[in-house]
Amino acid sequence: MAGYSDVPTRVLNHRFGAGMSVTEMVSASALVKSDPKTLERLQLHPEEKEVGIQIFGSEPILLAEAVYRISQTISPTCVDLNMGCPVKKISRGGHGAALMRDPEKVYEILSAMVKVSNLPITVKIRSGPGDGQVNYLEVGVAAQEAGVSAITIHPRTRSQGFEGKANWGEIARLKNHLKIPVIGNGDVQSVEDGIAMMEETGCDGIMIGRGAVGNPWLFEQFANYFRGASFDQEPGFSERWEIARVHFELESNCSRNPERAFLRVRKSLVEYFCDFPDFERIVSMIRSAKTNEELKALLAKMECDSKGAIDWEKGFQVMPVTEL
Ligand SMILES: Cc1cc2nc3c(=O)[nH]c(=O)nc-3n(C[C@H](O)[C@H](O)[C@H](O)COP(=O)(O)O)c2cc1C
Repeated sequence: MAGYSDVPTRVLNHRFGAGMSVTEMVSASALVKSDPKTLERLQLHPEEKEVGIQIFGSEPILLAEAVYRISQTISPTCVDLNMGCPVKKISRGGHGAALMRDPEKVYEILSAMVKVSNLPITVKIRSGPGDGQVNYLEVGVAAQEAGVSAITIHPRTRSQGFEGKANWGEIARLKNHLKIPVIGNGDVQSVEDGIAMMEETGCDGIMIGRGAVGNPWLFEQFANYFRGASFDQEPGFSERWEIARVHFELESNCSRNPERAFLRVRKSLVEYFCDFPDFERIVSMIRSAKTNEELKALLAKMECDSKGAIDWEKGFQVMPVTEL
């Protein structure tokens, strides 16, 4: 997920039992030009065992070149093509979900990627490119014929964005239509949702996006479910502080620009506290941190207070960061 599935998030998710992660999408064109920020996003961590690199673009030769470079320099589990992004900035260039408008081109692109790669190629699609067009079955067949190893579907159209409910019936229909593994995605926020998706659709795997932001415990709960253990354990406040602190530490250790770690991590950190009674105030305090030291001191103080006697009814009693 752009803006979220960076190295620290992926490492934490793996530690909590995620079977596989996917990087934030990167531009194939920027990758081929060796853009430094793009190369930084391709950085993998030794703890990551199964990780896909997701790329976007619309030119078969450029995408194939990007795949070739990835396969020669990095060893991800697979390279995934983004054909699901609805954002204007991406679709304006004919990338992301806009690619679904032309299944023949989808076949051409994916065949080119498969041909140059010694790694599995996968693809992520939506229900269709929008404007009333729903063609996931046709696009799925094109992808399968091109030789992709698995397909993920987020069953909303491009014009739907993230509105309404994901149409899991489409996951089931795609699964019945194809021979390759189909991964279901959309609106899985809990183990119960995941079980329901698997039962209703027969999908081969589940991809989780928003439900895991600030909530790596979801993967632990799934892992517990799959080994027959109880899976309803929710993290307490102090566990959340602790993992937020670890997340920040990972960001500081992994970033090529460690002095700006606080800037990158603030958005992810606030997600750990969304169930807290004093969420708004916590968010504004985290956002007000202007250096790594300020953020570190703030988290340490919050963690310390969370272990003490806090009157949650009155809200979280912590001094403004400037007074720490
Ligand atoms: C902020 C944000 C960034 C996203 N970035 C990506 C991305 O880079 N690549 C991708 O395939 N999907 C991306 N998605 C879509 C999600 O992967 C997922 O398909 C969608 O959120 C539905 O699944 P969920 O209900 O589990 O979140 C993004 C979604 C959000 C909200």
